[in-house]
Amino acid sequence: MIYVLGSINYDISLELEKMPKKGETMLADSCQTGLGGKGANQAVAISRLARKYEDGRKAVKLIGRVGADAFGADLIGRLDGYGVDTEFVRQVNRNTGIAVVSLVGKDNRIAVYSGANLGFTKSDIDEALEHATSSDTLLCQLEVPLYIVGYALRKARSIGMTTVLNPAPAKELPDDFYCNIDIIVPNEHEAETLTGIKPRDEQSQLAAMDFFLDKGVRYVAITLGANGVAFSDGMKLVGRLPAHKAVAVDTTGAGDTFVGALALTYPHVGMYSFKEACLFATRASAITVSRRGASSSIPTFEEVCELYSTEIK
Ligand code: RIB
Repeated sequence: MIYVLGSINYDISLELEKMPKKGETMLADSCQTGLGGKGANQAVAISRLARKYEDGRKAVKLIGRVGADAFGADLIGRLDGYGVDTEFVRQVNRNTGIAVVSLVGKDNRIAVYSGANLGFTKSDIDEALEHATSSDTLLCQLEVPLYIVGYALRKARSIGMTTVLNPAPAKELPDDFYCNIDIIVPNEHEAETLTGIKPRDEQSQLAAMDFFLDKGVRYVAITLGANGVAFSDGMKLVGRLPAHKAVAVDTTGAGDTFVGALALTYPHVGMYSFKEACLFATRASAITVSRRGASSSIPTFEEVCELYSTEIK
């Protein structure tokens, strides 16, 4: 089982010809609304990319908070529809998180109102992880309070779970965070914020990855957008994989697809090398960028295999 602790947002995505200037009002060419939030997107990616268990169990439980409002109820319904276990998604007395995605061409700028995503206590984490075991995984991002993420990672480590952190949006992390992380998956901007090194070429990518490994992380994958991914398993396997070619229409959710796919394939299935897991993740995220929206653009396992004619065991 993969537990995802993270945000759930109502995404409002506006397609614009250009970014408005200070004081300017612009009319959008189109508007799309839907399920978003890094936690929700990553949980949906895991659910859609996972093979079904024979006993019908779901592959992913999301630990999240939405408002006790119509948006919150709608988003829980959508998560259920994607096959995400919502037992630990609760409605709290705050507004549902909202993200305004401004899309110019394929590139986006996102502003988030956190709202209910801040409504966690440590005992919520204790309750959610009560029956977790060492064969389970915990995946977190940074759109919920940092002290809650730190607490959850410590707790997961004490249970012996595999832990994965996508440090997005970028925030400086206390040093004692790193020793509880097995796999860290930043993008290039997040890697630069955390390490002080811009991963622009092979040498700087290695230096940025070493920063994390020296702090106690076991595996690193730095996503580089159209330039693919740099990865290290901390020992002998260091490398780069190119991005898969795709006609990009909207990059929203591509990073989340990569993270969900990696969290699913590497530690959970256990039959892939880290490189193979990164390869599967780059393929899945290439499909996401070719579609509009966040959760709604994430492919299924079958779609990834079909497009690349690759049966991944
Ligand atoms: O990573 C994309 C997500 O970031 C969007 O869905 C938005 O909700 C923000 O959390």
